[in-house]
Amino acid sequence: MNKSDTRQKAGLDWGNLPFGYVKTDYNIRYFYKDGSWSGGQLVGDEMISLNIAAPCLHYGQECFEGLKVFETVDGRIVSFRPTENARRLNRSCERIYIPRIPEQIFIEALEKVVKANAKYVPPFGTGASMYIRPLAIGIGARVGLGPADEYAFIMFGTPVGPYYKGGFTPVKALALEDFDRAAPQGVGDCKVGGNYAAGLAGSQYAKKKGYPIVMYLDSAEKKYVDEFGTSNFIGIKGNTYVTPKSNSILPSITNDSLTIIAKDMGLKVERRQISIDELGDFSEAGAVGTAAVITPVNQVDYRGRSFTFGNGDQAGPVLTELYNRLTKIQTGEMEDKHGWLHEIKI
Ligand code: PLP
Ligand code: COI
Repeated sequence: MNKSDTRQKAGLDWGNLPFGYVKTDYNIRYFYKDGSWSGGQLVGDEMISLNIAAPCLHYGQECFEGLKVFETVDGRIVSFRPTENARRLNRSCERIYIPRIPEQIFIEALEKVVKANAKYVPPFGTGASMYIRPLAIGIGARVGLGPADEYAFIMFGTPVGPYYKGGFTPVKALALEDFDRAAPQGVGDCKVGGNYAAGLAGSQYAKKKGYPIVMYLDSAEKKYVDEFGTSNFIGIKGNTYVTPKSNSILPSITNDSLTIIAKDMGLKVERRQISIDELGDFSEAGAVGTAAVITPVNQVDYRGRSFTFGNGDQAGPVLTELYNRLTKIQTGEMEDKHGWLHEIKI
């Protein structure tokens, strides 16, 4: 018998979950005080109580992560490359003066929170997953600008479906002229909440015009592709996978994994600047990230010009193969030859 057959599951409509928040039974919390992190506390309360002078509220001293947990074809519960998220969280922490969170605390939190909420991990074959959201916040009260003296590290999980309606269905993007997301030497390469607040006006502007996704160009020259609001850009040109090199974009773990899969497929991989004009040379384009997985992009509009990719409503063959390989590795249907899956014993 498959392990998952004996596991009790929450009665959710797994195949139709949006990318939204569903309350689960527990989240886990660690507190930093006097130079060290406490042990983790699993709590059922989904609310937090904060001092009104907490710097995360005033000065945005907050960073977060996003990773996914899957049930595999043989009933294991696995997370995808969680150590990479732990490392990136620490890079974000360092940049905004939050004390490092030891990797073993991150992995322990993940294992405990998934175990405590195992019935919310969507069953294999539904296309859904459990999205894990770790966050670190400055909570010690202060009013003058400076880092907090106390912190919280919290992790929760929630079952999710596709980020963009339709999943692996192409969307059109608007490259923004009048909004920037990140300054060249700012925090664009970190996963801090302020970057996403800065993106809200642009993404709402684009949504009203019928674009579910926005593209940001480099803010210094407005000449090169940086990334999308919630994901990295990839383009296919002949036998080459091309993705931007920029120090103001988030180093995507999905993109890194796809470059490795692309090489396995015999593609060449280039990480370099991509001028907006070069978009005309790509046969396929995609938005890649944990939430977006690979969302094919069939059109990018910029200053009255339209660049088109793929075959209208259909993704191109290279993105389709990349998508199939990535999602099959995540669900154990394809060999995990790079050792990306971290099993969580329930
Ligand atoms: N870029 C931005 C701005 C993001 O928010 C994300 C999502 O985390 C990504 C890229 C993709 O990163 P990852 O693949 O590690 O989820
Ligand atoms: C993710 O893909 O994990 C992200 O954090 C993007 C977010 C806007 C949902």
